[in-house]
Amino acid sequence: MEPATVAPGPFSPGIAVASLVLLVFTILLLYLKPKSSIKSPKVEPIRRASTAAEEDLSKPSVRILYGTQTGTAERFSKQLGNELRRKYGDGTLVEVVDIENYKAERRLPKERLVLFLMATYGDGEPTDNAADFYSWICNEVEDVENGVKDRYLEGVHYGVFGLGNKQYEHFNAVGKRMQTSMEALGATPICRRGDGDDDDSIDDDFEKWCTDLFAALDAQPALLGAAAAEGTGSDTLAAYRVELLPAGSKAASPFPDGSGSSAHDPYWAVISEVRELHTAASDRSCVHVEIDISGKSQLKYETGDHVGMYARNSEQVVARMACLLGLPLETSFRLHAEGEGASGDLDAPFPGPIQLSTALAYFADVLSSPHKDALLALASCATDSKEAEQLRLLASAAGKAQYTDYIAKQHRSLMEVMEGFPSAKPSLGLFFGSIAPRLAPRYYSISSGAAKHPRSVHVTCAVVRDVMPTGRIHDGVASSHLQRCKPGDCIPVFIRRSTFKLPDDTHTPVIMIGPGTGLAPFRGFIQERQALIEDMAEVGPAVLFFGCRNRAHDYIYEAELDAAVESGALSQLHVAFSRAGPVKDYVQHHMESNGAAVWELLQQPGACVYVCGDAKNMAKDVHRALISVAASQGSMSSSQAEAWVKRLGDSGRYHKDVW
Ligand SMILES: Cc1cc2nc3c(=O)[nH]c(=O)nc-3n(C[C@H](O)[C@H](O)[C@H](O)COP(=O)(O)OP(=O)(O)OC[C@H]3O[C@@H](n4cnc5c(N)ncnc54)[C@H](O)[C@@H]3O)c2cc1C
Ligand SMILES: Cc1cc2nc3c(=O)[nH]c(=O)nc-3n(C[C@H](O)[C@H](O)[C@H](O)COP(=O)(O)O)c2cc1C
Repeated sequence: MEPATVAPGPFSPGIAVASLVLLVFTILLLYLKPKSSIKSPKVEPIRRASTAAEEDLSKPSVRILYGTQTGTAERFSKQLGNELRRKYGDGTLVEVVDIENYKAERRLPKERLVLFLMATYGDGEPTDNAADFYSWICNEVEDVENGVKDRYLEGVHYGVFGLGNKQYEHFNAVGKRMQTSMEALGATPICRRGDGDDDDSIDDDFEKWCTDLFAALDAQPALLGAAAAEGTGSDTLAAYRVELLPAGSKAASPFPDGSGSSAHDPYWAVISEVRELHTAASDRSCVHVEIDISGKSQLKYETGDHVGMYARNSEQVVARMACLLGLPLETSFRLHAEGEGASGDLDAPFPGPIQLSTALAYFADVLSSPHKDALLALASCATDSKEAEQLRLLASAAGKAQYTDYIAKQHRSLMEVMEGFPSAKPSLGLFFGSIAPRLAPRYYSISSGAAKHPRSVHVTCAVVRDVMPTGRIHDGVASSHLQRCKPGDCIPVFIRRSTFKLPDDTHTPVIMIGPGTGLAPFRGFIQERQALIEDMAEVGPAVLFFGCRNRAHDYIYEAELDAAVESGALSQLHVAFSRAGPVKDYVQHHMESNGAAVWELLQQPGACVYVCGDAKNMAKDVHRALISVAASQGSMSSSQAEAWVKRLGDSGRYHKDVW
């Protein structure tokens, strides 16, 4: 293995001026601050969560339940758990539980305080791990409302922080529903509901909600007891127990070869094709990938579904991380959570025995920025006392400005931070328990039609290649992995059902708006309509608004779209080229210039609008264009037009698959 060069630390000479200013400021702060104010956390073995039966009932307890798809709610929950442990010390039991593993029927009525951190997905739906709990609690509410059950949560206090994005029609629908459900079941709110908006700064929203929560807890000391005396709260860092195995031990597969029906049960599918969709003239890349699912006969998808996949870090990243950990790539080990094997809510480590190279490839998110607890964990193992102090400062409230300048603004990755603090060499147990978050699966809108390709899932993936402020080139973990794949390679995938579906009635008009890779599900829709036409079925009008930069660079699937117009699978195709001329031309401009035709279609019974692609800008612009079409063509005021578009959504005729 090539030893990787260690980048200069943030506080060493030879770095950018900004970092030097930060250094002076930091040193000043360190010297002005009493040393005891930035404490060393203690490292605790990761234990499985207690069961209701085992719990020490003499202790006040708080349960934090999270519903997450991409890990934010889990991260916030762990962060909050640590804050509560710091505040209340050993006298209070704080437990963070994946809501999927929570036995609600048995445990919820016995809770003293339960905090829900719940993300919203799909079109106002719960995350996959919260789906069962959500439908259970909705049924309970129905039973209470119908008088079948009493309001049986009257002794329970609760708090809700919803995670969502204002871009979506049903902003924080799940958080809101959790609040009304707990209220309907008789529980008492501890503080206001927090509505985290991922479109803005969800970390700040969470921090504000935590401030309110802690103030409410201070005002009700009977609930969790008094806060621990200053300095006695336990600052715990979770670490797995590590069992090092003899070199060459037989390794388990990082994922079992499952059914492919959920994120917990992925299927190792074979990649059958990878091809570039941009021309050689383009400075970006977008790949068409075909994934063969014929090995799993029960695995089915529907047109418009998503495929989830577990990508892997590149070999360079893996090798670099092994160097930073000071371990050979071939290190063979197994992680254990204490109490493993017993029943209960076990926060399971990944399967073992495993080689370090595989563990780093599939399970360590090292390119995202590290959060506070990761910095504390690094500090706990830094052998250089100065580095340890600096890391603790970055993790502390006093070091918020330094965190912003050195980490957040620079988009500095965990790997870069470890390069900057080379004396921090965590054990594998601490690294996987408290430092590197688990690499989240990535989702793609399936770009094939199930009728045409029942055993092959197509993906249309824009390859991420960003230059970060530190100068680091960030190659997107999953997209660059897909780009590197060769036919015959295997990848763990699973199908995620979506509500983004063509209308049942094939005559119903559809308007599809999908620039860039937003075209993906519409390619599937077009293939579906193509199959209907081949079966001699009648299809209604279908209009596609597609956008790209330049016909000569990134007009993906051009020949297929032309053929679709020819066959009638598409009745109209409007293409916006944003960089072909002096004026930026986008899909929303074409919607407006074709406003009369769009409006006419929308007057037909059940006609649907579909939007797919970029959530941050495009979906907003398209939404505004739709309102403007309604206002101009329907002779409405802007507020009437807004209400009209809202009704379109409420009646299930305006669908978004945006990310
Ligand atoms: C339901 C759904 C459907 C989707 N469908 C498609 C589709 O059909 N086609 C498609 O191309 N994509 C689709 N996506 C997006 C896709 O899931 C991935 O998000 C995308 O491919 C990028 O993943 P990545 O791992 O390559 O990039 P990542 O490595 O996750 O990087 C993503 C972004 O994070 C930034 N970043 C990385 N590290 C840091 C840091 N330390 N600090 C700050 N920023 C950082 C990067 O610059 C980059 O902009 C979909 C997403 C969802 C949720
Ligand atoms: C495909 C998709 C659908 C989403 N749907 C909604 C939605 O309907 N309402 C909402 O408020 N937020 C929605 N969001 C935003 C997420 O809830 C938000 O990004 C949240 O921070 C994710 O939390 P997590 O990382 O814990 O899963 C959606 C995000 C994606 C990617």
